[in-house]
Amino acid sequence: MIEVRGLTKSYGDRLAIQDLNFTVNKGEVVGFLGPNGAGKSTTMKIVTGYMAPSSGEVRVGGFDVFENPIEVKSQIGYLPETPPVYMDMLVEDYLIYVARLRGKSKPDAKTMAQAAMEKTNLTEVQKRLIGNLSKGFRQRVGLAQALVGDPEVLILDEPTVGLDPKQVHEMRDLIQRLKGQHTIVLSTHILPEVQASCDRIIIINRGQIVAEDSLESLGKRMSASGQVTLKIRRKHEELVQSLSGVKGVMSVRRDGSGLDVSVDHNEDTIEAIAEHTVKAGAGLVELKATDLDLEDIFIRLTSSERSEVGREL
Ligand SMILES: Nc1ncnc2c1ncn2[C@@H]1O[C@H](COP(=O)(O)OP(=O)(O)O)[C@@H](O)[C@H]1O
Ligand SMILES: [Mg+2]
Repeated sequence: MIEVRGLTKSYGDRLAIQDLNFTVNKGEVVGFLGPNGAGKSTTMKIVTGYMAPSSGEVRVGGFDVFENPIEVKSQIGYLPETPPVYMDMLVEDYLIYVARLRGKSKPDAKTMAQAAMEKTNLTEVQKRLIGNLSKGFRQRVGLAQALVGDPEVLILDEPTVGLDPKQVHEMRDLIQRLKGQHTIVLSTHILPEVQASCDRIIIINRGQIVAEDSLESLGKRMSASGQVTLKIRRKHEELVQSLSGVKGVMSVRRDGSGLDVSVDHNEDTIEAIAEHTVKAGAGLVELKATDLDLEDIFIRLTSSERSEVGREL
């Protein structure tokens, strides 16, 4: 449904995204996960046709975003970072106005506005001023605006940012309900967000994709890996080298007076590391083995000095 090829964008001499490649299939819910400044909004603005890339190509439903902008925009509903809602309009009037902007006739616009409000539980506030609504409701108006005309694809840029926990929950429920009816790409810098809503995640850091997988198989990989931290008194550099050769060790990294060792999920590996370290006479004072969870993986993938771990995944 969405095909992104070699997408690069720089603002002046600042490279925001670099050679992004990914596809989103029809009906999928894909989470675009990354810390602030990773390039999520930039990518979304380009995919929705609101900004041109420096190079690369985006196709939506087979149409090139920049050669066929009208066809593409009619298939996409977009909730930008700052929802384009007018504070001095009534909810219903605003949604009718959005439909009219999209070229719909008056009666169609009214029907579409009603449908969008029903999907987002806004019917009860349709005659209220947007400016008088809570942030949670306003964000729902933003979502309703994306849904006007029932587009196949929804691009939602951080739909829960700035909401309180109850409002976050409501927004997640809404997105859950839209599953199966739309192809959805949602961005977030919050991990539980994607765990709650997405079939697949694309992790982006510093403008590049560092991992891309289903939640299920990321989970499987995680349960198959762990982390051993060692505190030793000497021979740090020597051990960084030699521990890499121990069976089951995936990578070794120095961290101050300690070593971080990524390992497979096997007690033999941990025993071998302990034995090797003692034999080397490195002055082992502490050894701790932990299993990785999704949070750890995300942090490792998005702390840039460890980005080589991302390549491994
Ligand atoms: N209009 C702009 N002008 C200059 N730099 C920008 C602009 N918008 C974004 N950037 C920079 O591009 C990078 C990616 O930003 P953005 O796509 O907004 O990331 P995210 O949405 O993941 O937080 C950041 O380093 C940001 O500072
Ligand atoms: Mg952003």
